[in-house]
Amino acid sequence: MARSPLLNVMVAAARKAGRGLTRDYGEVENLQVSMKGPGDFVSAADKRAEQVIHDELKKARPSYGFLMEERGVVEGDDPQHIWVVDPLDGTTNFLHGIPQFAISIGLEKAGQPIAGVIYNPVTDELFTAERGGGAFLNDRRLRVAGRREMADSVIGTGVPHLGRGDHRAYLAELQQVMANCSGVRRVGSAALDLAWTAAGRFDGFWENGLSPWDISAGILMVREAGGYVTDVNGKDKIAETKTVVAGNEHIHRQLIDTLQKARTPR
Ligand code: IPD
Ligand code: CA
Ligand code: CA
Repeated sequence: MARSPLLNVMVAAARKAGRGLTRDYGEVENLQVSMKGPGDFVSAADKRAEQVIHDELKKARPSYGFLMEERGVVEGDDPQHIWVVDPLDGTTNFLHGIPQFAISIGLEKAGQPIAGVIYNPVTDELFTAERGGGAFLNDRRLRVAGRREMADSVIGTGVPHLGRGDHRAYLAELQQVMANCSGVRRVGSAALDLAWTAAGRFDGFWENGLSPWDISAGILMVREAGGYVTDVNGKDKIAETKTVVAGNEHIHRQLIDTLQKARTPR
């Protein structure tokens, strides 16, 4: 499949980092038996992947800036373009030998996503999108699911855990969603959650507390597959509210209405 020179640069960086992560993932599987667990090893793998991606993208677009999960903001000479990168999304899955994690590389121009790559090196699933150019899984064009009723839908989400998130507020949201859909799924990688929504595997997705590097590429992926992505109020204040809701126009709307019921003070 012919990709743009920009996407080729992003795909090459993701695949190069993916080769290292696949090797490290094989080692992590062996380390599960150790009492201490592979935490330090995974942190090193995460940083190695970020370094590979940084060096590849810097070589190809020297003037662009970076927002990377591990190293934060790296200013570029070009104030318009910034790479938004999570070198390993789904760290806990990786740590536990669960094969659902991804490299997420987004490119934003004037604060808006214009290109995205989400790559699971274990399954070799490469999700790509470019503004106005559609979304793809490997060489197949993606469309969001066509279901119109939330009752028939499977909804992806992210669940708070020890030390993370507002448990009470989330449980109120989950209570509303689970009572009005065919199933809820928690994969463990927000980037893959959005890519799967773009691919129609999930009919909708919502999560609170995500960071720009978790979702920049995935937001574009869903929109280029014909879906909608907003904050929980249906507005474009995803970063400010740290809420994200995605789906086709019917499910996106119904999911927002359902979540609002959990937020309305009784
Ligand atoms: C995490 C994953 C997870 C989401 C968390 C994120 P990380 O990213 O995307 O699915 O629920 O909120 O922090 O930490 O594995 O890069
Ligand atoms: Ca992440
Ligand atoms: Ca990460």
